[in-house]
Amino acid sequence: MKIVVVGSGLAGLLTAVEASEQHEVTLVTKGALADSNTAWAQGGVAVVGPQPDTVVAHVSDTRRAGAGLSDPAAAMALAADGPTAIDALLELGVTFDREGGVLCRALEAAHSYPRVLRAGGDATGAEIVRALVVAALGRRIEIREHTHAIDVVREGDEDAPGHDAHAFSDLSDLSDDDALPGAADASGPPAVVGLLVCTPQGDVEHLDADAVVLATGGAGQLYRATTNPLVATADGVAIALRAGAEVADLEMVQFHPTVLAGEHPFLVSEAVRGEGAVLIDDAGRRFMVDVHPAAELAPRDVVARAIAEQEARQGSPVRLDATRLGAAAVAQRFPTIVAACAERGLDITTEPVPVTPAAHYWMGGVRTDLAGRTSVPGLWAVGEVACTGVHGANRLASNSLLEAAVFARRVAAALGEEPRAAAPSDGAWSLPAAVELDDAPGAADWDRGQLQELLWEHAGLTRDGEGLARAASVLAGFATPSLLPDAMLGLSARDIEDANMLLAARALVAAAAARTGSLGAHTRRDAAADAPGEKRHQVLLAPSRRSA
Ligand code: SIN
Repeated sequence: MKIVVVGSGLAGLLTAVEASEQHEVTLVTKGALADSNTAWAQGGVAVVGPQPDTVVAHVSDTRRAGAGLSDPAAAMALAADGPTAIDALLELGVTFDREGGVLCRALEAAHSYPRVLRAGGDATGAEIVRALVVAALGRRIEIREHTHAIDVVREGDEDAPGHDAHAFSDLSDLSDDDALPGAADASGPPAVVGLLVCTPQGDVEHLDADAVVLATGGAGQLYRATTNPLVATADGVAIALRAGAEVADLEMVQFHPTVLAGEHPFLVSEAVRGEGAVLIDDAGRRFMVDVHPAAELAPRDVVARAIAEQEARQGSPVRLDATRLGAAAVAQRFPTIVAACAERGLDITTEPVPVTPAAHYWMGGVRTDLAGRTSVPGLWAVGEVACTGVHGANRLASNSLLEAAVFARRVAAALGEEPRAAAPSDGAWSLPAAVELDDAPGAADWDRGQLQELLWEHAGLTRDGEGLARAASVLAGFATPSLLPDAMLGLSARDIEDANMLLAARALVAAAAARTGSLGAHTRRDAAADAPGEKRHQVLLAPSRRSA
């Protein structure tokens, strides 16, 4: 089979490497092969450790952090498959830190046991990417760097009137008469048969595929402050929405509690608190002890909100105090963080450093089953772009790299099976909202800063109905950039990203407005704190735009 994998983080690289044993694989990535969110990951990979740790303990920590929304079967798949996924990474040459030959395991927030593997102290993602890039280069995989995925091609698209390689990617080019059944139709959406890409020269090219695997990562760039690299622009969710696929839980965005405050945010790993660093207010007091029994090691959403509230009270960032660990220990265990602090004129080994929450991880994404199938046959999703439901309303620390490894292997194993879509949403997955692909009449140009500020303000760490309605109306008035190549200049990669960010932002805001109660990372200021939101996943669809 011909498989096109989109994205080169852990999920994309491992899917490509494993699938290449049986299939003809092309890997498309919009940056260089090593550019991804994975490459920036510090803390590590959570995986069940020796007794007294158990798979059941990992499942229950995952579900507790997920505020009860974490899907039990997905959590079980993650925890139970974890050890073999780690073995696969070790076989592919990933070197995790060891002491006396034994893998080091750190404690992180909301874990019952130390189970987080690491590499290079705090450079786990970089080591994983290094090894997987070597593995990918050594296999029969066609690698297309600096190549942007635009849209999938579905059965029948080639026959559409006036079809050319990009006709159905220009969303403003379609009339209402084109609006069609897509996933809402009883016969289901048409199968994916290829992918349109924008080459480094700005040309549009059609890649034939029996399956397209979205492994495009997250969407931190939707927000003013994020731990994510510039490539995290929600591409996969937007592509899936335009293909008529179901997306789920888009309102669930995780804000990492401890990011260096200031002009150039930089993640200070949860592992620093896991080793014993504490959060202090401007009087030097540990404010987290009054908030949660686990204090600094409470689930991420709890810590992030408590920090924001303390910041509001004192009018300045709180501080993370790692000095109690000893300067030499901090320098040895966290060399990347120490260096990043030094670049900003801070010495984390001898002084508390200012930290603040920033957008970090999207629990929501393209709805998949536990083998990565989406609701569109031939379209698959894996890693942060996917929503198996495993993370529920708040991801447990260091479960994201594990998720990418476990589900990449599941996708690669299932790709050769008869093409079919994920089973339709059942009662556990409600369908409360749709997102329009159209701009409002008179929609105007905008810039990324405006979109990022809007989401930060109205769909950030806390939200309310009024702010979300305002955000929705402003976003409706932003014009979707054309995805038609300019006759002279080719197609702009920035326009593709902006079109994706706008669609994903509209969908995120629609999902947040539809969930009227607070749950996990989705905190509504206008919902009673003691009235948690309904524990059902939220599915959202865009109306399909193309005749069958
Ligand atoms: C961290 O090192 O704190 C980030 C790891 C994660 O997001 O789980």
